[in-house]
Amino acid sequence: MPEKIKLGILGGGGDSLIGVLHRVAAHMYDSYEITGAVFNPDHAQSLEFARELGISTDRIYPDFDTLIAEETKLPESERIQVCSIQTPNFLHYPMAKKLLENGFHVICEKPMTTTYEEAKTLRDLHEKSGKVFTVTHTYTGYPMVRQMREMIKAGALGKIHKVDARYYQGWINPIIHDKEKRNSVWRLDPKKAGISSCMGDIGVHAFNMVEFTTGLKIKSLLCDFNYLYDDNVMDVDGTVLIRMDDHVKGVIRASQVATGEENGLAITIYGEKAGFRWEQERPNFLYLLSDTEPVRVYKPGHAYNSELSLDGTKLPAGHPEGIFDAMGNIYRGVAKAIRGQKYNDGEFPTMTDGVRGLNFVEATVASHKSGNTWVDLD
Ligand SMILES: NC(=O)c1ccc[n+]([C@@H]2O[C@H](COP(=O)([O-])OP(=O)(O)OC[C@H]3O[C@@H](n4cnc5c(N)ncnc54)[C@H](O)[C@@H]3O)[C@@H](O)[C@H]2O)c1
Repeated sequence: MPEKIKLGILGGGGDSLIGVLHRVAAHMYDSYEITGAVFNPDHAQSLEFARELGISTDRIYPDFDTLIAEETKLPESERIQVCSIQTPNFLHYPMAKKLLENGFHVICEKPMTTTYEEAKTLRDLHEKSGKVFTVTHTYTGYPMVRQMREMIKAGALGKIHKVDARYYQGWINPIIHDKEKRNSVWRLDPKKAGISSCMGDIGVHAFNMVEFTTGLKIKSLLCDFNYLYDDNVMDVDGTVLIRMDDHVKGVIRASQVATGEENGLAITIYGEKAGFRWEQERPNFLYLLSDTEPVRVYKPGHAYNSELSLDGTKLPAGHPEGIFDAMGNIYRGVAKAIRGQKYNDGEFPTMTDGVRGLNFVEATVASHKSGNTWVDLD
């Protein structure tokens, strides 16, 4: 049994949405131990949370800079090896940058940074660092998303014609109509979230899903946002027309004011031979659509699935696995990479995915602000 990887956590306190997903994921394959953390900006709160989790408080630091300063004094064998950034968006870049500069591997929440420029700077730094870096586009960890990618790569759909990805939520609906409530949400504050709310928070997942599953790159886009109120500076809904390769077109639709929607990420890909449909709220069913045959349903854990898909399934077929497992699969891939073990392409999202994401987000804003014109991606 190899030694556990020493994991540091930044953000993800007891008050957070995403922290529990990362902690469960990190422990899922017994590869990591939480060695140190700054769970909250308030040190007392951070210490209290560590006690609740049963983690030693010795390495619960008052802030991120102290974590770096103290950890780098330790012998390498004792030091935190990888830090997981689970804070609001504006802290991702300064934290990831300093972590890479000081020799840590990085697991970073999306969007990777708040600007495309920062993302490219991070990419250059990462190239020189030789460290493992992932951006947690969680949905790529689902076995049936991986299966879709592998079957498309093997030609199951033939030439792709059209892609339709949507990510619909409704949670901002009760907040957006009240100015005071609006001011209390960091996702609607450009200083904390970056230039976009809806596309930066969830559209970017849909974008990543399109490129991850099709293996194609989006070349240009045209975006139309809805801000709902004139005095709201952050998009809460948007529709993006996309052009990929020749004659491959599609649409990415995202909304945070789609009343009654929960976490409605779904993707449909139509090709000359067949189509695929997958929905996040029913993640264990992958539908193969045909013009000539009944719909075929692929499910996880069966021997007919690809190696990449089966690698992300722990239990025999028929035992539903979900979002915790998807994130666990990403942590598992990162653990293999840190240990220098063999892993498959697609086991965790890369720096390239992070950079592409910011290229996408900025292009959507540029398109909308220029009067809904076509904007090229790099
Ligand atoms: N991968 C996904 O599917 C997914 C889902 C939800 C959120 N996210 C991303 O995760 C990140 C966090 O989102 P959330 O919804 O959990 O936010 P949140 O506001 O619920 O939690 C943020 C946490 O960070 C802590 N924090 C804030 N400033 C800090 C600092 N200076 N040092 C240490 N900790 C600090 C807060 O105390 C809190 O515990 C965001 O970037 C978001 O985009 C990703």
